[in-house]
Amino acid sequence: MTSLGDAFHSAPLDETLRAAIEADGLRIDRVGDDDRAASDRWTDAVARGFLDGERNDLQRGEAFARSRYRRKIGVYDPAAVQPDEPVTTFASWIAELTLPGGAAIPMCAISAVTVAPTHRRRRLLSRVMAGELRTAVAQGAPIAGLTVSESGIYGRFGFAPAAAATSWEIRTRRAGWIGPVAPGRLDYVTREQARDAAAALHERTRLASPGEIAMPGGHWDRTYGTRPDAEKAERLRAVQYRSPEGEVEGVALYSVSENDDDWSASNATVHQLLAVTDAAYAGLWRFLLSLDLIGTVRASELSLDEPLWWMIADQRAARITIADHHYLRILDVPTVLAARGYDVDDVVALEVTDPLGIADGTFVLSAGEKPGVDVVDEAPLGIPRATLGVAELSAILLGGVSPVTLARAGRIETDDAHRLARVFASTTTPRLSFWY
Ligand SMILES: CC(C)(COP(=O)(O)OP(=O)(O)OC[C@H]1O[C@@H](n2cnc3c(N)ncnc32)[C@H](O)[C@@H]1OP(=O)(O)O)[C@@H](O)C(=O)NCCC(=O)NCCS
Repeated sequence: MTSLGDAFHSAPLDETLRAAIEADGLRIDRVGDDDRAASDRWTDAVARGFLDGERNDLQRGEAFARSRYRRKIGVYDPAAVQPDEPVTTFASWIAELTLPGGAAIPMCAISAVTVAPTHRRRRLLSRVMAGELRTAVAQGAPIAGLTVSESGIYGRFGFAPAAAATSWEIRTRRAGWIGPVAPGRLDYVTREQARDAAAALHERTRLASPGEIAMPGGHWDRTYGTRPDAEKAERLRAVQYRSPEGEVEGVALYSVSENDDDWSASNATVHQLLAVTDAAYAGLWRFLLSLDLIGTVRASELSLDEPLWWMIADQRAARITIADHHYLRILDVPTVLAARGYDVDDVVALEVTDPLGIADGTFVLSAGEKPGVDVVDEAPLGIPRATLGVAELSAILLGGVSPVTLARAGRIETDDAHRLARVFASTTTPRLSFWY
C-alpha cells in the first residue's frame, strides 16, 4: 500500500460523523483488520444488503483473509436483538485511477455500501458517505469513485457517471469477421495461469485507458474462479494469445451454456478479455466469434467505442446496450485537473458548486502540455466561463461526455461550450472493465 493508502486505511473516524450517529442512539466503528468475528458479521450484513444468502464459514474466512486492504466501517444499533450485527456497512481503499494523458492518481474507491432494510431512509448512508469523504479529503485523496447498484443514489453526493459501459450480444454466424488475422498463437491455459497473466496484462492495459483503476486485491481470484469458495469455477475456460516472438499479449476468460432448443447455437459469455496489443485483441475476439457450436457471444463492461464493432462485417449482428458504470467524484479540483492531460492550449474559468461543500470554488484552468490551476475569487473576464456542479465536472473529467452535450442538457451553464469541449476532449474513450 502507498503511504496515502496506509494513512487513509488507519485514519480515525470523522468526529462529526461519530457524533451524528451517536445522536441517533447508534454506534459507529471500524472493523478491525484482525477481528475475525466482527468481519464475519460485517460480511453477512453486506451479503444480506446485496440480496445474497447467509455466508458459510468458507466464504466468511475468504472474505476475512482477502479484504484486509479495505477500510471497513459498521454502524450498530445497541437496541437491536443482534446488537453486534451492523445495520450499515461501508468499505473504501486507495486505488489508482488513470486519467486522459496516462497519469494515474490516487482515488478513494468505495464499495460494500449497504443499510439494513430495517434502518433504511434514516440518512445513515448520507451521514457515513459525508463523513468518510471528509476523511478522504483530510488524508489527501483528490477523488473518489464507485460502481453502483442503482443510478439514482449517488448524484446527491456529487458523483456522476464518467465512464459508460456497453454490454454486447453478438450473433456469431451473422457477424462475419473482417478484422485482421493475428499472426500469433492461441493456447488454452489453466485458470491459475490465466489469472497470473491477466494480473500482469492489466497493469499495462489500465494505464492506457482513462477510467480504469488498479484491480482491487481479491478480484483476480474471484474473476478466475481460483479461490476456494469459487462457485461454478469449472465452467470457466481461459485462452491466451502469444505474439510470434512468444510474448503473452492477451488473455480471454469465457464460459459456455448450452441451448437446449438448438445445441449448435449455444451461448458463450466473455468474462474478461485483456489485450496489450491490437493483434492480441483481434486474435482473441476472432477466436471467440468463431467457436464451434456457439451462436451467441455475450460480453459486458466494454467501452462505448470498441474496435470490435469495426471488425465485423454486419454491425447489426451486435446488439449493444449502454449503461452508466464508473462514477467519479472530484474532491480536490486543482490537483485532479492539473494531473490530467490536455491536447489543446487554452484557459477557461470554472465556477464549481458542491452539495457537500468540499470542492466548491472558482478555478482558472490553464490547459496544455504543463497544465496549471489557480483558485480565484472571481472568474476573470475575457476567457470562457462555465458554472457547473462537482458532479458535472466529474462527468467530463475523463472525456466520456462532451461539455457541449451537458450544456445542451442544461447541466452546465457556459458562454462557450465548444471551447470547453475541446479542452476536456480525450482521444481515448474512457472505460472501466470490471465492477468493484
Ligand atoms: C442504497 C442504500 C445504501 C441507501 O441507504 P439509506 O440509508 O436508506 O439512504 P439515505 O437515508 O441516506 O438516503 C439519502 C437520500 O437518498 C435517497 N435514496 C436512498 N436510496 C436510494 C435509491 N436506492 N434510489 C434512489 N434514491 C435513494 C433517499 O430517498 C434520500 O433522498 P432525499 O435526500 O431526497 O431525502 C440502501 O437503500 C441499501 O442498502 N440498498 C441495497 C444495497 C445497495 O444497493 N447498495 C448500494 C450499492 S452501490
